[in-house]
Amino acid sequence: MAVEERDPLSGYKTTGHEWNGIKELNTPVPRPVFVFLIAAFLFSVGYWLLMPAWPTGQSYTKGLLGFDQRDQVARDVAAAAAQRAAWSRALEYTPFDVALADPALMTRVRDTAPALFGDNCAMCHGQSGEGGPGFPNLRDGAWLWGGTPDEIAETMRVGVNADHADTRVSQMPAFGRDQMLPQEDVRAVIDYVRSLSSERPVAPSARLVRGAEVFANTCAACHGVTGEGSQAVGAPNLTDGAWLYGGDRDSVHQSVWGGRHGQMPAWEGRLSTAERRLLTLYLLDLGRDQP
Ligand code: HEC
Ligand code: HEC
Repeated sequence: MAVEERDPLSGYKTTGHEWNGIKELNTPVPRPVFVFLIAAFLFSVGYWLLMPAWPTGQSYTKGLLGFDQRDQVARDVAAAAAQRAAWSRALEYTPFDVALADPALMTRVRDTAPALFGDNCAMCHGQSGEGGPGFPNLRDGAWLWGGTPDEIAETMRVGVNADHADTRVSQMPAFGRDQMLPQEDVRAVIDYVRSLSSERPVAPSARLVRGAEVFANTCAACHGVTGEGSQAVGAPNLTDGAWLYGGDRDSVHQSVWGGRHGQMPAWEGRLSTAERRLLTLYLLDLGRDQP
């Protein structure tokens, strides 16, 4: 039996052992596998010694480095809280105009505010403040209660027709339902109101003249002599074509017939001062993007 025999099929040498005509090939486990196993073993021994590893009933082996992920998390949380405290203090005390001109602060506003807005405001005002029927658009610059930073923050603080002691009160009477105006006058004033924002010239008619009279006597006190609205009482501008409840005949009829009494929750007590100021800056920033 030749010791240096080579298997003609696989090309391996044989070990020289033979059982019933079957010869064993000499294919040892490759050396790198042993090297790797030894390295892994050494690594694990080192790791057990240095790091927390084995449970010992009540406790565990702490490792020579004294590393503890719980400490690390606590340190990270404390660092994040300190950072947040500094930033919400900055929000509370930085005047709005200074904040709006501070790119670093506004970058953080843009990063942080959308989630807060999404959680608290989007169900009424839309995901990006675009509003919808009965819920004002907060980015078009047409403000019911005033668009200065302080006015916006105040609306948010006290709400509208809300349960806050200082709430803003939106109280348009129900001219039709409460029979404050005869049917014909309601119809006439609706035509007149719709003509204020009509894009096409409206043919003059006796009804429009009557509508203008009714408007001057009954509506101008809140909506202004020319229908330009009043932010003191939250009365919308009726001339700008931006409708809160809709400008079609049915919607305007419903507004004048029954009043609307829109309700916006007060956010004092629900959101912190810093959060309300954050949202105010966010809304002002959204408005800046508008053409
Ligand atoms: C339950 C629905 C609702 C939610 C939630 C809500 N709002 Fe309002 N909001 C309204 C309504 C309705 C009005 C209009 C009230 C009126 O008729 O004057 C309004 C008005 C406003 C105004 C005044 C708009 C103007 O033109 O003057 C601001 C600012 C505002 N909301 C901001 C917010 C912010 C910020 C949040 C989240 C913290 C929020 N709202 C959450 C319903 C809501
Ligand atoms: C006491 C003040 C007051 C008077 C008087 C008043 N309004 Fe209003 N009006 C409001 C307020 C406030 C709103 C906003 C309603 C809301 O959001 O609840 C409003 C809303 C409206 C709207 C809805 C506008 C939109 O954008 O959808 C119309 C239309 C309207 N008024 C027409 C009239 C007409 C016509 C009269 C006179 C017959 C009149 N109002 C008298 C305060 C008044």
